[in-house]
Amino acid sequence: MLFLPLNKLKQINIDNCKLIGLRLIIYTGKGGTGKTVTSCATAINLAERKYKTLLMSADPAHTLSDALCVDIGYEIKKVLSNLEAIEIDPIIEISEKYLDIVSTMSTSFFGKGIESNLEYEIAMLPGMTQLFSLLKIEEVIKEDSYDVVILDMAASGEALRFLYLPKIIGSMRRHATGLSNLFAGFAKMFQPFSPYSTNLDSIIAQTDILKRLENLFSVISNQGITSLRLVTNPDNFSVKNAKRSLMSANIFGINVDLVVINKVDFDQEAKRITSEKIKLNFFPLPCKEAKYQKEELQGIEMLREHGLEIFGNDDPSTIFFEGKVYSIEEKEDSIIIKFKIPFASNAQLDIKKKYDELIISIEHDLRYITNIVTLPLAALNMRIISSKVIDDELEIILKR
Ligand SMILES: Nc1ncnc2c1ncn2[C@@H]1O[C@H](COP(=O)(O)OP(=O)(O)OP(=O)(O)O)[C@@H](O)[C@H]1O
Ligand SMILES: [Mg+2]
Repeated sequence: MLFLPLNKLKQINIDNCKLIGLRLIIYTGKGGTGKTVTSCATAINLAERKYKTLLMSADPAHTLSDALCVDIGYEIKKVLSNLEAIEIDPIIEISEKYLDIVSTMSTSFFGKGIESNLEYEIAMLPGMTQLFSLLKIEEVIKEDSYDVVILDMAASGEALRFLYLPKIIGSMRRHATGLSNLFAGFAKMFQPFSPYSTNLDSIIAQTDILKRLENLFSVISNQGITSLRLVTNPDNFSVKNAKRSLMSANIFGINVDLVVINKVDFDQEAKRITSEKIKLNFFPLPCKEAKYQKEELQGIEMLREHGLEIFGNDDPSTIFFEGKVYSIEEKEDSIIIKFKIPFASNAQLDIKKKYDELIISIEHDLRYITNIVTLPLAALNMRIISSKVIDDELEIILKR
């Protein structure tokens, strides 16, 4: 822990009093924006700063190997001094560790144990890859042998939802029903036997899976340990995708500390300006940029350069931002949303709502910025009834 600039590091209790001290940094973003190369670049930079670093991917496409040009497998493998990597394989996870659970389920539903190769079928069911990946992440974190763990997340919104799964399970556990809905994959498998679904609940409840997912969420939601980082490109789709992730991370209490705007073409003025506007769109989150390279980013050397370009002299394990960009208060028929906007005190604002988005045009010194805020789905049927600027924050009230 010597090297961490972590006066912010918190020691927390996990799984009956084991103390852990680490940083967990998770990269997410739309498909193809550069999550994998940025995860690798961050990990290389950290390892060279002598942090004991683990780079993990839960992407079934095994892209760490492609990016690093090193064959990484489902077992932790050394890549460089202080850098290890793993590509989680849910099929291996199931067959090595969870066959007993699967077998118990099978016995209670079919009256016999599992058929051979069933683990492969299970791993292919919806949600299972993410579930077993989460359990693997929890296992690694509990081992407590790294300073920093970097997680390269799969692209879809689905993947991010799985990050929230432990929290959802935690709250459902308190209500003690409906667990099988969360294990959609298992539930689907046993659909023809749906009258037994309460059985499935109780079987899952007898395992330590829920406890472990709750442990994991206590790590993920600890701002001193975990940061979610958004990777975007200078285009509308990937920016909107990142803002949606930011909103839901704020709702679920996961700290987003940085936006990486990747593939910026600094030679084109239009792209440069777009990148500047994107930064204002994520205000007050810090943004770092990386230029669009003429060739694919592959191999340790190029990825090291990519890391230096993004972070410069900054230590990538720094918590670059702490706090919520959005605060949302949901009431029965209204939502109060507050967020910081640039130039709040002396700008002209024009606010419109379109479906589940707020479009805020900010005019300042004859410059125009359009800030788009994605709203929680509950706002779909609501309209704006008031908006006001308080200090540097815009407060908008929506009502059904
Ligand atoms: N700054 C850049 N300049 C040029 N090419 C880049 C840059 N960043 C990433 N790439 C290339 O873009 C492609 C996608 O990058 P990467 O695989 O990191 O994205 P991803 O977000 O992980 O994609 P996926 O959603 O498929 O997992 C790769 O071929 C990579 O080499
Ligand atoms: Mg990837």
